[in-house]
Parts: sequence; C-alpha cells; structure tokens
Amino acid sequence: MTAERGEEIRNIIGIYHLSKRYNEKFALDDINLHVANGEFVFLVGPSGAGKSTLLKLIYMDDFPTEGQVIVGPFVSTQMKRSKVSLLRRKIGVVFQSFRLLYDRDVFENVAIAMRVTGESSYEIKKKVAQVLTQVGLYHKRNEMPSTLSGGEQQRIAIARAVVNSPAVLLADEPTGNLDPEVTEEILKLLFHINAGGTAVLMATHDLALVKQFGQRILFLRDGRLQEDKILGYKGDLSQRLERIQKDPGRFGPGWNPGTK
Ligand SMILES: Nc1ncnc2c1ncn2[C@@H]1O[C@H](COP(=O)(O)OP(=O)(O)O)[C@@H](O)[C@H]1O
Ligand SMILES: [Mg+2]
Repeated sequence: MTAERGEEIRNIIGIYHLSKRYNEKFALDDINLHVANGEFVFLVGPSGAGKSTLLKLIYMDDFPTEGQVIVGPFVSTQMKRSKVSLLRRKIGVVFQSFRLLYDRDVFENVAIAMRVTGESSYEIKKKVAQVLTQVGLYHKRNEMPSTLSGGEQQRIAIARAVVNSPAVLLADEPTGNLDPEVTEEILKLLFHINAGGTAVLMATHDLALVKQFGQRILFLRDGRLQEDKILGYKGDLSQRLERIQKDPGRFGPGWNPGTK
C-alpha cells in the first residue's frame, strides 16, 4: 500500500490547494487541511471568513476554482452531478436555520433522508425511531416542527443528518439561533454523535463558545487558514463532556435505545 492510499483511509476529508473565487474576490485562498476519520474539529472565523463556502465545497454543492476536495472515495475534480447524491449519504449537513419541512411531521422530516436510498419502509421506520430516540425526541415524532422549540428543531435536523449513518457531519453555525443553555445541549449531542465514530466539522464565529473543549480548532480569516491548533480544557462543561464520552449511556433521554 502506498503512503498516499494510507492517508486516504485515515482521513475522511482531504483538501489540497483549494481556492474559491466569486467574481474576482477570493472567498477561500489556498486551503490545505485534513480531517481524520472520527475526528471532531471546530472551524472558527468571523463573518465573511469563508466558513460556509468551505463546508459547501466539502458537501460539493459548489466546486473549487482551483485545487481539490476529497471526501472518502469522492474527488471534487472527478465528480459528476449523478454522484453527488451518493456523497450526500455519507455526509450529514446541519444549518443555523434548521431547514426543516414545515408541512411534514417530525417523523417524515427525518425519514425523507432515507426515502432516496431505496430502504424498505420497515428499515426506515426502525432507523428513524432509533435516531429520534438518540436525540431524545421520539415522543414528538407525530408533531409538526413549528410546534417545537428552536433547540428541538435543531435536534430533528441533526437526526435527519445522521439517519444514514454518515462518515462525517458538517454543522454550519448550528447554535447560531439558540440561547446558551440550548447551545450547550446541541454541543453535547454533537460530541455524542462523534463518540459513535462520526467525524464532525462544526463552523462557528464564536471562539469563546468552543475554545474550552480541548478540540482541534481551525482558524479561518479572509479566506485563509491562519491556524490549526488545540486549546486546553477549561471550565465545567468540558469535564462533564469528558465523563459523558466515557459513559455514553448517561447522556439525556435515551441516547442509547433501551437506557432510561
Ligand atoms: N455565492 C456567492 N457569490 C458571491 N460571493 C459569495 C458567495 N458566497 C460567499 N461569497 C463571499 O465569500 C466570502 C466568504 O463567505 P462565507 O463563506 O459565507 O463566510 P462565513 O460563512 O465565514 O461568514 C464573503 O466575502 C462572501 O460575501
Ligand atoms: Mg457562514
């Protein structure tokens, strides 16, 4: 096996000399980075830094002006439109604005992500029940999203993003519309999903929020990757999270189906 092949197996995301220009302006300028399988990474930078653009190029909603994005076996420079739907089964995406379907109930909002995969209705029912239990909202499966709080709506969006067991979850300012207490719940949920083996890349402008967790942080500014580093643990929440990660059964209502 070549070293290069080994890299591909270890990393779920590889970004090589990636630039993105809109008109003449660089939104991203010569970005190089890797995200390993199962890693948790925060992408931090002020508004306009290029965070959303970088995520968009990773889920291949748009393509680089120069350079390359590799996600698992998918290579941006060799990507066909018809392959994008296959990629999307391996990438879950969550947005600040939830992007739920407000004319469908909670169950259907999650099930919709599986309907395109050709799974049987039995499998869909089973898996949707499982992820709704994981996010603690199985009891709300027949409600309409507009009756739920913002935090609950985001948990539904997260359930939808992970229902196909993706290799990586991208979250673009997922707590941007939520108050601090609910923000903490959503972060815990993301850490839990990560503890199950899914790599997570979360974009935020809020360094103060994320610097306490001892996770890898990528600093983006004016389209350039300025720093890639790990800040030390601080405060209570990180200690709680550490405990939770060692013992996932203790998290919230029914993260592990079967635990009360
Ligand atoms: N579709 C687009 N057309 C033109 N300019 C864009 C487009 N998307 C993003 N940009 C520009 O690219 C830069 C980075 O934007 P964005 O990725 O949204 O930053 P962030 O998510 O960090 O706030 C900004 O200057 C923005 O105006
Ligand atoms: Mg953005």
